[in-house]
Amino acid sequence: MDQALARDVHMGAPGARVPPLRMSQDLFANHVPLMRPWLGEEEVQAIREVVLSGWVCLGPKAAELERRIAAMVGAKHGVATNSATSALHLTMQVRGVKPGDEVIIPTFTCMANANAVVIAGGVPTFADIDRRTYNLDAADVERRIGPKTRAIMMVDQIGLPADLDAMKAVADKHSLLLFDDAATAFGAKYKGRYLGGHGVPTSYSFHPRKMITTGEGGMIMLDDDAWAERARVLRSTGASVSDLKRHEAKGALFQEYFESGYNYRLTDIQAAMGLVQLDKVPAMLQQRADQAARYHALLAKLEEVEPPFVPEWATHAWSSYCIRLRPGAKVSADEVVRRMAERNVSCRRGIQPLHHEPYFRDRWASDHFPETEAAAKETLFLPIFPGLTEQEQLQVVAALEQSLRA
Ligand SMILES: Cc1ncc(COP(=O)(O)O)c(C=O)c1O
Repeated sequence: MDQALARDVHMGAPGARVPPLRMSQDLFANHVPLMRPWLGEEEVQAIREVVLSGWVCLGPKAAELERRIAAMVGAKHGVATNSATSALHLTMQVRGVKPGDEVIIPTFTCMANANAVVIAGGVPTFADIDRRTYNLDAADVERRIGPKTRAIMMVDQIGLPADLDAMKAVADKHSLLLFDDAATAFGAKYKGRYLGGHGVPTSYSFHPRKMITTGEGGMIMLDDDAWAERARVLRSTGASVSDLKRHEAKGALFQEYFESGYNYRLTDIQAAMGLVQLDKVPAMLQQRADQAARYHALLAKLEEVEPPFVPEWATHAWSSYCIRLRPGAKVSADEVVRRMAERNVSCRRGIQPLHHEPYFRDRWASDHFPETEAAAKETLFLPIFPGLTEQEQLQVVAALEQSLRA
């Protein structure tokens, strides 16, 4: 392997300390990043094999990734896509969200949720979150249902499953569609079963900030054969025959178009990387859980800090570790993030409410989402990722203590 590349890639077992970017080595010396994907020689080798095979677009590796993830989470089908945004869009189209339909989403989430609704022709409608889980509050969702509401898109924020049964009950009571955005929560479980294995159309993201990565990528988990088939067709221009099938038939299979589609394909280069990442999932989950437990213990001495809450029905994936500053804290969360950066620790402010964004501000000017607004002000994310060492966690907590008090 090229020496420079070897230096740039996070090699080998988690715990290895290889800076991800050469150009930032000086700037980030002795610095704890917010996260670092766990990538190594195995991913490079898998990608190399795909490149040398000559089949680099959507093909057998993507199909294998779909089969393996479906089997893992307990869904009948996986449909690989080039992002979770496209996965969410396809799911809504396949399930029949129509132009003008309102889709309830949390306002405490990223723009991708709103984007997917808008791309599907729908209108994002916001609801507030539960104070402790940061996920949709079923009672507030129910209050916001109106005559145009067609669907609820629940989000398993920060790697923690939302209360799926509560959301299902509201959706069933009002005859609404239910979608689960598990973009950040691959590997998390609700009541002992992986998300995507509960019969609710579920989407995952494979962006590097998420649990496993293919660079960019996503997947829809579906149990219905016809929905999955339509999602596969729409993913690939609307063609009735895939590139792979046509290739296998030596070009003698002809496609037709019954509706217009998209290019939402995941490449086999990406899927090969995803298959290697999948083998690391148990180790990733274990490391993140251990790191979360260590933070819990270390943070007990900081009375200004409220650690994350995990309901008894959830197994957290710990894609992020979100702390909350209690009312007694003398410094704002934003100021803590700035002070942590000066102390060589990258944190992030909590998720910012979508209804405050210029794109939505006018329509939502008179609405309030008290739990979301409080969470946005009071929360921040600490570094958590495979390879984060105990020493680094001690450094993070020491920097946090100084940032809160200095
Ligand atoms: C909750 C949530 N949903 C969806 C997405 C979109 O994922 P992608 O970047 O794969 O489209 C993100 C990405 O940040 C996310 O955090």
